[in-house]
Amino acid sequence: YKYMPEPYKVKMVEPLRILEKEERLEAIKKAGYNTFLLNSRDVYIDLLTDSGTNAMSDRQWAGIMMGDEAYAGSENFYHLQETVQEIMGLKYVVPTHQGRGAENILSQILVKPGTYVPGNMYFTTTRAHQEMNGGTFVDVVIDDAHISDKEDVAFKGNIDLQKYENLINEVGAENIPYICVGVTVNLAGGQPVSMKNLREVYELSQKNGIRVMFDCTRYVENAYFIKTKEEGYQDKTIAEIVKEMFSYADGATMSGKKDGIVNIGGFLAMNEEDLYHKACALVVVYEGMPSYGGMSGRDMEAFAIGLKEALDFNYIKHRVEQVEYLGNKLIEAGIPIVRPIGGHAVFLDAKKFLPHIPQNEYPAQVLAAEIYIESGVRTMERGNVSAGRNKEGKEYFPKLELVRLTLPRRVYSYAHLDFVAQAIINTYNRRDEIKGLKFSYEAPVLRFFTGRFERL
Ligand code: F0G
Repeated sequence: YKYMPEPYKVKMVEPLRILEKEERLEAIKKAGYNTFLLNSRDVYIDLLTDSGTNAMSDRQWAGIMMGDEAYAGSENFYHLQETVQEIMGLKYVVPTHQGRGAENILSQILVKPGTYVPGNMYFTTTRAHQEMNGGTFVDVVIDDAHISDKEDVAFKGNIDLQKYENLINEVGAENIPYICVGVTVNLAGGQPVSMKNLREVYELSQKNGIRVMFDCTRYVENAYFIKTKEEGYQDKTIAEIVKEMFSYADGATMSGKKDGIVNIGGFLAMNEEDLYHKACALVVVYEGMPSYGGMSGRDMEAFAIGLKEALDFNYIKHRVEQVEYLGNKLIEAGIPIVRPIGGHAVFLDAKKFLPHIPQNEYPAQVLAAEIYIESGVRTMERGNVSAGRNKEGKEYFPKLELVRLTLPRRVYSYAHLDFVAQAIINTYNRRDEIKGLKFSYEAPVLRFFTGRFERL
């Protein structure tokens, strides 16, 4: 076989509705041409995100029944803590309700006005927390990451060490509380970072006394790419690769809603005791006791089990190959997508898909809306709307103007993906008719979540 068949079978189903085209037109108009504002009952195949949309296993559901809902000292917290310590080798674990809860705590402790936080491309919530604490995010990803069709780069999420070193020389290591290394890099297209690069980033950081904090939201996908693409890792297990990856980190934030294969959850983990005490002092303000951090006992149990399941090679091979299957179908049809195909999603290049729409008329936003109208498939804008505005109020106009087709874990079949590919091809065939959008409502931060648009 070319693509790994499902390493699981179906035990329960959730029926889906398919609206008529007229109803879809009505629904997207009501949603202000923002797929975030659609009702999920109006969606046929939901590729908005892989976040919290995963199917849990029978074992995870069994774990749900074992929830110890004590206000303090829940048994399930100890299970989660042990699991993180065992898999990642990090010493201290502070649970949070999801990834941004951990980002909030980390940023409040370490990011001060006038400091700089380098990272391999921004992520929306991560950068928002850094900026809200007065920090400046600095993109130090390799240039190739910003070129959508540059496909001969296996590890497009790598840090450009020269850019990182230049920043250290320019602003001084004392003004860089940590470097945030995303494994994988979501907005570059789910692109991985090589072990070699992680090692070098850690060495340079150590030399300068700068902490390395992973955003390990999709770390298993990253480990899979290291195993399949990096010299010397073919015979190592995913668990061994993960262990080595984290030996080059001082801590991590994680959204469990992705590679934890759960619907909610996250954590902040670290090796530094002082940082841990500060994080515990803040977690009680924003999330809950340091033994639940916004999760119920049953959530923590499902999370601990999910973390272990995700290390299974067949699980992750199938997950990444589903993405590859969809991506290759689109490439064969001549649709412009980000290459190489990443770990969690296929990203359409909206600038190339709709070359007649300028970036200030939000080509990716309108493309996501049109795909929904075409098929009932929900996707997400990851371009100028997501990038938002800088401190001066100017739009960022990122190089990448993308629509993300994000695959939830263990949810859709290859037949669903055939349907999605056809929907994109149909939309591509009528691309000349599509016109741009303008904002009718824009929130000051993270505007993509709630923004509303009108057709031009
Ligand atoms: N870091 C990365 C790389 C992410 O992709 C996300 C979430 C977060 C942090 C924040 O985690 O949602 O649990 O608070 N990404 C989702 C997505 C929302 O659709 O890509 P969270």
